[in-house]
Amino acid sequence: MSRLVFVLNGPNLNLLGKRQPHIYGHETMEDVEAMCRKTCEAHRLELRYHQSNREYELIDWIHEAREKAFGIVINPGAFTHTSVAILDALNAFDGTVIECHISQVHKREAFRHHSYVSMRADAVLAGFGTQGYTLAIQRLAHLADTKK
Ligand code: DQA
Repeated sequence: MSRLVFVLNGPNLNLLGKRQPHIYGHETMEDVEAMCRKTCEAHRLELRYHQSNREYELIDWIHEAREKAFGIVINPGAFTHTSVAILDALNAFDGTVIECHISQVHKREAFRHHSYVSMRADAVLAGFGTQGYTLAIQRLAHLADTKK
């Protein structure tokens, strides 16, 4: 079984650490990537890490993951609440999908309560801050270690 994991980040997450730090914290996208790399290394997982503000790029990476990865951790940003196209792409992926939100979306505006991605996700994390990425990767590692 492949031990390759994709961590995908959607729009505005490149501004992590700079935008609304009271909601998203002070860590940057680079900090999160470094943390994901460390966690993957510790669990002998291979990592592809991406961020894009463009929906089609996220879709292309999901298609790429389809051929090689066993798991995807995705924070689709605002596309969570709007994108049937990302849902369709994830539905074409056979591995484990973990949806990860830095903020506790259910405590926020009503439009953030609905997620198209949750209709496919095998697990959802929200409100764990950037630590959610580590937890998601640990879960994938556990699945990779226990699945036959
Ligand atoms: C987010 C929550 C979304 O509602 C928002 O549009 C984001 C970030 C989060 O990580 O908490 O861009 O996905």
